[in-house]
Amino acid sequence: MEIRLYSPLDMHLHLRDGEMLKTVAPLSAKSFSGVLIMPNLVPPVTSKEDVISYKKRILSAIGDEKFTPYMTLFFKSDYSYEFLNDIKDEILAIKLYPAGITTNSQDGVTNFSIDSLAPTLEAMSELNIPLCVHGETNGFVMDREAEFIPIYESIAKRFPKLKIIMEHITTKEAVQALDRYENLYATITLHHLYITLDDVAGDLLKPHLFCKPIAKRPEDRMALRQVAFNAHPKVMFGSDSAPHPKDKKEAPGCAAGVFTAPIALQALAELFYEAGVIENLEKFVSFNAKNIYNIDPPLKEVILEDSGFDVPLKYSNVVPMFAGERLSWRIKDVI
Ligand code: DOR
Ligand code: ZN
Repeated sequence: MEIRLYSPLDMHLHLRDGEMLKTVAPLSAKSFSGVLIMPNLVPPVTSKEDVISYKKRILSAIGDEKFTPYMTLFFKSDYSYEFLNDIKDEILAIKLYPAGITTNSQDGVTNFSIDSLAPTLEAMSELNIPLCVHGETNGFVMDREAEFIPIYESIAKRFPKLKIIMEHITTKEAVQALDRYENLYATITLHHLYITLDDVAGDLLKPHLFCKPIAKRPEDRMALRQVAFNAHPKVMFGSDSAPHPKDKKEAPGCAAGVFTAPIALQALAELFYEAGVIENLEKFVSFNAKNIYNIDPPLKEVILEDSGFDVPLKYSNVVPMFAGERLSWRIKDVI
């Protein structure tokens, strides 16, 4: 059997820089038509020059694939209207990180009072620049996302024209918030559709499944699956594929991030097919994002076939999710 996907999109992707960029960027460019690039480099992407030069390095790493890297800027509370007006054609969104919440987020936001965030948010709202948010407080690790929901709500209420994307949602609370505000949207990762905390820490510790936000409870996964499988129009695929070298994952102080870019479409096909909703996969992984972000990515057709795919143990020095396991679907061709 074959599945055809038109112009798959990954609306949350970490490509890093330097050698890592050269390893991972071609893997996404092969099967995706467009991706939203996260700005948490060291130092973060905060200027027009940073955005333009990072995009050039990405394009040179991928060669001549039909592939659009949609760029983001690292959120600061004091960006001026003039600055954002000047940069808006170079970026698709701005990504907000709470300070210290995850990899390379030290320069993120420390004060979440709405008045403190307002100067940048006001300008973004007027200029139609969407806001992507890593929505976690610094509370108890399992409660961080649910505790952040009131912050989403206060931004959504105060700036009703601002599109707010709750990134990599992991809880039923976030799923429920989606329908309460017209301007709230969400990305969902592959790994949060597959795993719960039990898969990470229920048996021997699995460092390659450790990520932020941490995977939650079965009922949370069920809520995520429900909106993904129904291709809820406010939900789209964002892998949050976050490569770290093997020695930084298999270590005390394991870095957070699951590397899924090269196996994402195959594993999504398996999940949607098994759930009997394969006809909704294209909406989840392409159409919804096109509508939400109003983008027109390059035309690409990915043909998957259920003849089996043995996931490599490593891509260079990065270990993917399902390393050494066999997935049912493989990418047969990309046109
Ligand atoms: O697990 C994660 N890794 N979560 C994030 O939010 C960031 C990412 C990374 O950049 O490694
Ligand atoms: Zn991320």
